[in-house]
Amino acid sequence: MIYSIVKFGDPVLEKPAQPVTQFDDSLKTLVADMFESMYAAHGVGLAAPQIGISLRLAVIDITFKEDPKAKLVLANPEIIEVEGRHRQSEGCLSIPEFREDVTRAKYVTVRAQGIDGKWYEKTGEDLLARAFLHETDHLNGKLYISHISALKRDLMKRKIRKLVKAGEW
Ligand code: NI
Repeated sequence: MIYSIVKFGDPVLEKPAQPVTQFDDSLKTLVADMFESMYAAHGVGLAAPQIGISLRLAVIDITFKEDPKAKLVLANPEIIEVEGRHRQSEGCLSIPEFREDVTRAKYVTVRAQGIDGKWYEKTGEDLLARAFLHETDHLNGKLYISHISALKRDLMKRKIRKLVKAGEW
């Protein structure tokens, strides 16, 4: 099932999500649906709050279907180590059509549970590091625009308000 993506302005995106506690068949279905929804939206990462489900769950595939082994499920993720700096343009499926440069750590180690509930650790570099931080932020009710300047953020919010008024958001 393909979920529609919740857009900026919906309160579910700005509240901390609840821990995943049940690693059962319904979680497997949800994860499969999240991958499907992410690919349909042309994204490389998706957090459950973005489909209106306030759970600490995210999926990532920075290869966009190229490498099945690159598909990652992150339940209850925690960032345990960050190193270096890397500045790159960043976007979010919940804030479509906008992108801004964001400085993030270059290397990020995350600790998370997989679909079977087993804990694992993984270190990502550049785009993967960015995805770990971006998706974990989502689960804490935080969007990437909190990492850009207030000036740029206000400008973006003003443009979004216009789109809302025009019925285009
Ligand atoms: Ni996002």
